[in-house]
Amino acid sequence: MQTSLPVLEDALRRAETRLTEKLGESITISLRSYLDERLIQKITAIDHEKFRSELWYSSEELMEKSLKKDFICLILHINGEPSAFLYGYDDEFDSHWFFLDEIATKQEGKGIGKVLIVLLLVYCFELDYTFVTLYTEDQDEKGRRLRAFYEHLGFTYMGTEPELGVVMKYKINEEELIKLYNRVMYSEGGPHPPYLRP
Ligand SMILES: CC(C)(COP(=O)(O)OP(=O)(O)OC[C@H]1O[C@@H](n2cnc3c(N)ncnc32)[C@H](O)[C@@H]1OP(=O)(O)O)[C@@H](O)C(=O)NCCC(=O)NCCS
Repeated sequence: MQTSLPVLEDALRRAETRLTEKLGESITISLRSYLDERLIQKITAIDHEKFRSELWYSSEELMEKSLKKDFICLILHINGEPSAFLYGYDDEFDSHWFFLDEIATKQEGKGIGKVLIVLLLVYCFELDYTFVTLYTEDQDEKGRRLRAFYEHLGFTYMGTEPELGVVMKYKINEEELIKLYNRVMYSEGGPHPPYLRP
């Protein structure tokens, strides 16, 4: 357990250990501040498997996003196979806000999504962001209760915009983030209520 927030590098190593123990498979997580064709291919393969086609981004769109300020991409491999990713960047409308654009994992319900989000929050804390925001849905076409998933991590509902969907925000507070970090990286385990399934 941590009494202060670790630096991102240490949090990454902790996340790998945590998920390797939990899944019983070799987990590595790497961090990139830019995208190249190889990484775009990995992201696209997961993205196309997990999202419906109207939500897919082209390579050009992804490349454009990767040029934005403070861009970060976390990519998780299971036994060397690309299996999950998350990326986000500075919200250009307000310098205190960071935008979490996309997250997806091939293996669901094993704690990968929440670990990636906690790593992103540590990154945003280090960069002195005040808020992390994202757009989602109450429930998607597969019955995943996405709003509840984010709320369970401490995000709050800001409203529903016709074009954007459900808007969520996380206010970065060091004390609360340490608690979330300890919960997700150390204490949670065992059976849980089905947040993502009705
Ligand atoms: C949304 C998503 C990233 C969540 O990642 P995940 O690794 O499946 O989620 P986690 O395992 O970290 O689960 C977080 C919580 O939801 C619950 N949960 C997750 N999947 C579940 C499932 N299939 N059934 C029941 N509960 C589930 C877990 O019990 C966990 O609860 P806990 O915090 O009390 O332990 C993942 O479902 C996904 O890739 N979905 C497709 C793409 C997508 O919709 N992305 C988000 C767009 S906004």
